[in-house]
Amino acid sequence: MSVPPTILVFDSGLGGLTVLREIVRARPDAHYVYVADDAFFPYGHHSEEQIVARVVPLVGELIARHAPVLVVIACNTASTLVMSHLRSAYSVPFVGTVPAIKPACASSRTKRVSVLGTRGTVQREYTRRLIDDFAQGCNVTLVGSAELASLAESALSGNDVGDADIAAELAPCFVDDGKHRTDTVVLACTHYPLLLDRMKRLAPWPVDWIDPAPAIARRVSDLLGSPGKESDQAGAEIIFTSKRPHTLSQALMPFFGGRVPA
Ligand code: DGL
Repeated sequence: MSVPPTILVFDSGLGGLTVLREIVRARPDAHYVYVADDAFFPYGHHSEEQIVARVVPLVGELIARHAPVLVVIACNTASTLVMSHLRSAYSVPFVGTVPAIKPACASSRTKRVSVLGTRGTVQREYTRRLIDDFAQGCNVTLVGSAELASLAESALSGNDVGDADIAAELAPCFVDDGKHRTDTVVLACTHYPLLLDRMKRLAPWPVDWIDPAPAIARRVSDLLGSPGKESDQAGAEIIFTSKRPHTLSQALMPFFGGRVPA
């Protein structure tokens, strides 16, 4: 039986699971190593220099240890910064996660789009360039949220998170100038789809929420080539850099396509 390829999926915490979920769906034939750099969470609160200095050597160590055929940086706050550093340091292919501004602006009917990300992501030169290149006549509102990633992390870990706290982070996305109002919100942090049902319920009016995870999964699948046979060996592991105990393994199973991550 052939050995399934290993895909390493990396985020600052549990948010990258929303990307992993789509990749596992597209490629159940792979073995998955999910790494949550929770010892350094939240990335949105660190400087650009700190993130590069943290992520580049850490990903190098993970590549050496797990020999993945492909690495997914399932974090906008890191991807908008580190992809070129990673590609010049290591030969394995990388797939990043960056704000889906192009498809959002292409589909907005009111030409009013909001990009909801961490404070780091919305300040990045990379994000500003995406807007310059792909706004296609839309007014784009950048909304940097200080707390939403931590609220999502907390909710997935089983804690109570109040509606008012989520609604307060969302509010600046909803712009109404009397003539036009926002009709599209880009989820530019992989943590946010964890709260999507609640965000839909708390939104002042219905909008399209753009989650890039299915597009990332298609890209990963294309790079992997034709699927092998789904194999019993195609297991999954989850690694917390804080070395916290794996008390969430059962709760996280749906993100791993029903596998219990070791
Ligand atoms: N999940 C990360 C992202 O996509 C950010 C969360 C954090 O601040 O660490 O941007």
